Amino acid sequence: MTTPAISIIPLPRSIEFDGNSRFELPCAPTITGGLPVSALACKQLSKDTGRQWQIADASAPATVLLTRIEETGLGREGYDLDVTDDGITIRASADAGLFYGIQTLGQLCFPNEEGALPHLRIKDSPRFTWRGMHLDVSRHFFNREFVRRYIDLLARHKLNVFHWHLTDDDGWRIELDCFPDLTERTAWRGKNEALPPSYDTGDERYGGYYSKREISDIIEYAAARNVMIVPEIDVPGHCKPVTVCYPELLCEGEISSFKSVQDVSENLLCAGRDETFAFLAEVIKEVAALFPSPYIHMGGDERPEGPWEQCPLCAHRIEAEGLENIDALQGYFMERVRTLVADQGKTMVGWNEITHGEKVDQSAIVTAWQDPEKGIEAARAGYSVIMAPAQHTYFDLAQRDDPSEPGLRWAGVVTLAKAYEWEPIPDPELAKRVLGIQGCLWSETLVDEARADYMAFPRLCALAEVAWTPAGRQSFLDFKERLVPAHMSRLDLAGVIEHGSV
Ligand code: ACM
Ligand code: ZN
Repeated sequence: MTTPAISIIPLPRSIEFDGNSRFELPCAPTITGGLPVSALACKQLSKDTGRQWQIADASAPATVLLTRIEETGLGREGYDLDVTDDGITIRASADAGLFYGIQTLGQLCFPNEEGALPHLRIKDSPRFTWRGMHLDVSRHFFNREFVRRYIDLLARHKLNVFHWHLTDDDGWRIELDCFPDLTERTAWRGKNEALPPSYDTGDERYGGYYSKREISDIIEYAAARNVMIVPEIDVPGHCKPVTVCYPELLCEGEISSFKSVQDVSENLLCAGRDETFAFLAEVIKEVAALFPSPYIHMGGDERPEGPWEQCPLCAHRIEAEGLENIDALQGYFMERVRTLVADQGKTMVGWNEITHGEKVDQSAIVTAWQDPEKGIEAARAGYSVIMAPAQHTYFDLAQRDDPSEPGLRWAGVVTLAKAYEWEPIPDPELAKRVLGIQGCLWSETLVDEARADYMAFPRLCALAEVAWTPAGRQSFLDFKERLVPAHMSRLDLAGVIEHGSV
C-alpha cells in the first residue's frame, strides 16, 4: 500500500489508511444540520473547496455525518474522523472537537485536485490545553476585519486562545464607559493629539479603537471557532494613555527624565496612591463584564526604573506595608491587581515579571516571555505557566539573518526552524504546571497588514504544531513537506496577504 500524500497542519495524533480506496466528493456535498457548528462548516467548506456544501435534509444520508457522542476518550477538543465508501463521519464529545474535525476535513479537501479522499481514520486531540497567539493593537492598530481574519486563521490552525494586547503607550484601544476619555483622547496619536507621534506614523493623526459592541461581536465570532479571547490591560508600566488622561496617577517628584525601554516617559502608575487601585478596580470590573473569558491579562512587564525609586508616596507605601525593596513593591502592586481580578471571579495572567518580589499568589498564571528559564523558575515557584519564550515564539523578531529582513532582533533571529524545534516542557517534573504555549506579535514594526501577515506566517503554523501534536510525532523536515506547497496554498486561500521565509 502506498501512503497517500496528505498534508495536515498541525499533524494529527494518529492517521491510519485503509487500503487504496477513495471516496469521491460529490459536487454538492451535504453535512449534518442542527448543530452549532453545521452552518459555519458549510460556509467554510464551500469557500475552501469550491463546491456548494449544503445542510443535509433528513430524507437522505449526509456526505459528512457530524455526531456528538458521550465519550471519545479524546477530551472536549478531540475528534475522530473516518472516511469510508459510505462517506465521512466526524465524532466528538463537544462542539470544539467537531469544529476541529471540520478543520482537518477542510485540509483533506484542499488542495485536492482529484476531488477524492483516501479511506482513512484519524484520531486526534491536542497536546496542550492553552494554544495561544497574541496581537499588539496599540503600537499599530488593526481594524476589526483584520482581527476577525486573524482569529479565523488561529482557529484553522487549532489554536484556541487569542491574547488581545489592547492597551499600551501608543494608543488605548478598548472603549470603557467608566473612563471614556481613554479612547476619546488617547486612541489617536500625532502632532496635535494628546499622545505624541510614534513609530512610522509620524505627525499624522493615527489610531482607532474597538467599541464595546464591536468587541462583543468579535468575542462571539471567536467563540464559534473555539477561540477564547483573553484581554490584556497592561499595568503598571506601558500606561502612557492613562497618565495623559489622569496625570494625578503619576508618581510625585522629578520623573520626566526616566524612560521605559521603548523610550517613553511618564508611563508608570504610582504604587503609593490609593487612587491608582480605585481606577484599576473600575477598569477591571468593566473588562471582566465584557469578556466571558475566566482570565484577564494584567501585564506587569517592563516597569521603568526611576519613578517609584524616588517617589515619596511609593516610599510611604513600602514603609506602611513593610516591603523589603522596589521588587517587593512591584509584587505588592500586582498582588493587589490580582485580588481586583479575583473579586470579579476571574484569574489574573501576567508576564513573568509578576513573580518579582514573590508577593503574587500562586493562583495567578505566568506568561514566560524573556526566556524559557523564566517559565521554569515560575513553574518551580508554584505558578501555572504559559511558555512564550521570545527566542522561539516572538514573531515580531526577524526570521532571517539578512540585515534587510524586517523585525526586531533583541532575542536573536526566530527562523522557521526555531519556531518549530523547541520543547516547551524542558523538565518533565514541571509538566503539569505548563498549560501550553503562545506566540506573540508585537507591532512596533508591523507597518501594515501585509507586514503583519509576513511576520506571522508561516511561523504561526510551526507554533500550532508544537502546541497540538505529540512531541514524538514532530519532525521539522516532515512539517516543511506538508507546508510547501499544500499548506501555503491554504494560507493564500484564507487571505494571507504575504508570507515569510520557509
Ligand atoms: C513583553 O514582551 N514586554 C512582554
Ligand atoms: Zn509613586
